[in-house]
Amino acid sequence: MNSPVMHGLELNTPDFVKHPRLIAWVADMAALCKPAAIHWCDGSQEEYQALCQRLVDAGTFTKLNPAKRPNSFLACSDPSDVARVEDRTYICSTRKEDAGPTNNWMEPGEMRATLNPLFDGCMAGRTMYVVPFSMGPLGSHIAHIGIEISDSAYVAVNQRIMTRMGRAVYDVLGADGDFVPCMHTVGAPLAVGQADVKWPCNKTKYIVHFPETREIWSYGSGYGGNALLGKKCFALRIASTMGRDQGWLAEHMLILGVTNPAGKKYHVAAAFPSACGKTNFSMLVPPEGFHGWKVSTIGDDIAWVKPHSDGKLYAINPEAGYFGVAPGTNYHTNPNCMASLGHDVIFTNVALTDDGDVWWEGMEKDTGSMPDHLIDWQGKDWTPQIARDTGAKAAHPNSRFTVAAGNNPALDSAWDDPSGVPIDAFIFGGRRSTTVPLVTEARNWVEGVYMAATMGSETTAAAVGQQGVVRRDPFAMLPFTGYNVSDYFQHWLNLGNTLSAKGAKLPAIYCVNWFRKGEDGKFVWPGYGENMRVLKWMIDRLEGTAKGQETGFGVSPTYGEITWDGLDFTPAQFATVTSLDKADWKHEIALHTELFTQLAYHLPAELVATKAQLEQRLAA
Ligand code: OXD
Ligand code: MN
Repeated sequence: MNSPVMHGLELNTPDFVKHPRLIAWVADMAALCKPAAIHWCDGSQEEYQALCQRLVDAGTFTKLNPAKRPNSFLACSDPSDVARVEDRTYICSTRKEDAGPTNNWMEPGEMRATLNPLFDGCMAGRTMYVVPFSMGPLGSHIAHIGIEISDSAYVAVNQRIMTRMGRAVYDVLGADGDFVPCMHTVGAPLAVGQADVKWPCNKTKYIVHFPETREIWSYGSGYGGNALLGKKCFALRIASTMGRDQGWLAEHMLILGVTNPAGKKYHVAAAFPSACGKTNFSMLVPPEGFHGWKVSTIGDDIAWVKPHSDGKLYAINPEAGYFGVAPGTNYHTNPNCMASLGHDVIFTNVALTDDGDVWWEGMEKDTGSMPDHLIDWQGKDWTPQIARDTGAKAAHPNSRFTVAAGNNPALDSAWDDPSGVPIDAFIFGGRRSTTVPLVTEARNWVEGVYMAATMGSETTAAAVGQQGVVRRDPFAMLPFTGYNVSDYFQHWLNLGNTLSAKGAKLPAIYCVNWFRKGEDGKFVWPGYGENMRVLKWMIDRLEGTAKGQETGFGVSPTYGEITWDGLDFTPAQFATVTSLDKADWKHEIALHTELFTQLAYHLPAELVATKAQLEQRLAA
């Protein structure tokens, strides 16, 4: 043991950590945060069980009925700490222009001066966990390592599910391997003798990224992407800047494999804004009538995409688990997900049933009725009558499950392949009740980048703020791009140019919208498993068997090109979800113009030219 002593605190570095720079950093952070103890996580099952028990003892976790949900727990957060806080999220590049107009920015020195007093003594009375993790298969040339220091045992156990976490990471790091330092505190120091609360957090929150030094500092929240720093902070914001510098892409995309009855397999990466059904799409079960078709999951939220020497783009899922939205998930919308949630799950902010199991809105579709009584996510009694009278939700709309990828019955056999899988198509989809058709193929890479860049979506409960308003969400990356978004568009265009110059066939790009509504305000497209029909049309396009038809926006299917077996969907309904309305598109283009005005600095000229062509085609 290497055990320097600070303020009477033993560093207690375990023998398996042999990295002097890392040890010095942990010592510095301990000196700053002044925890009562340090725990170096080894990622073992025994450690996981012990930490879960510690969370049960602290009242943070409720152990679920083992006969119903073995080895699973429910955590309920403070009502003020339930989602990502985009207005408190900062990209602190040296130059403001490098953060761009869509990110909050503060000069790095000023931010450090702000954070330093907040972190000073922030872990008093708590244990500081040192959590080593790999984003991507351990040792893969596409993977990168992070070390999260956190005073939350909830973070440590979630990270064990969400990442490859544990001592094997130190073997890959060796004595001087690179890692991204990720500092996290709930910001709730305990005075001597002060009793803890079930979900410590702080009203003040900062989620801060220093892209140039590749550091993350998160203060005040214990929830999701604010606290599990491998996910949005590292795998998207910091990794996107690494990708810009090194020629690859870090994207807010699920990755799926789709195999046709002849056994031919395609791989698709799809970007959707938060809480727009990504997990459902990544675990899609083809409907009856698609005998022999199979969809398998590589990832449900994030893709790291790198060009290989064969000119193709290969993608890995940097995560090892799913942190998915619970409400709306049931055996109709996502049977594979429901099967994944049978055991070894951490639930956050769902409701507790009287027999010690979990419940959320949407589950009544499986059982045919609402439960008579629940304890809601805030610990209050809930009955169907209370829900009718007050509108109270049993589960918070952004309540989540954390579950290992290994639980997923549809897991792709290559999900952990260190080389990744070759991508045949990219899909971009927003939540739009009007305007954007069910599916459109871009006629070339630049047009696809334009479609992705101008994507709009109605906001959801995944982030704090007003819900249901349309905001532009370029590439579904608005809250996640770690640098100037116009430079990010340019990076996509450059990658396309570099690969085409090598003679490579670029992946096709599609824009989809599952969420068009009819005049009655109801969704017209049935979605979920039925999205297979759209996926098959894309494969038919890749195989050259579907001709499609040119529209003002791109190439769309004719009614006859979609396989309708087993679904009653009339040509009139198809027209409702595919039509381009002139007035809607005039307004839409005006919003693209507004976006481009906001992003004028470094906006690629090709995108401006593409807008002019689109405007002409739509006016014709
Ligand atoms: C998520 C999100 O948790 O996008 O995946 O908010
Ligand atoms: Mn996401």
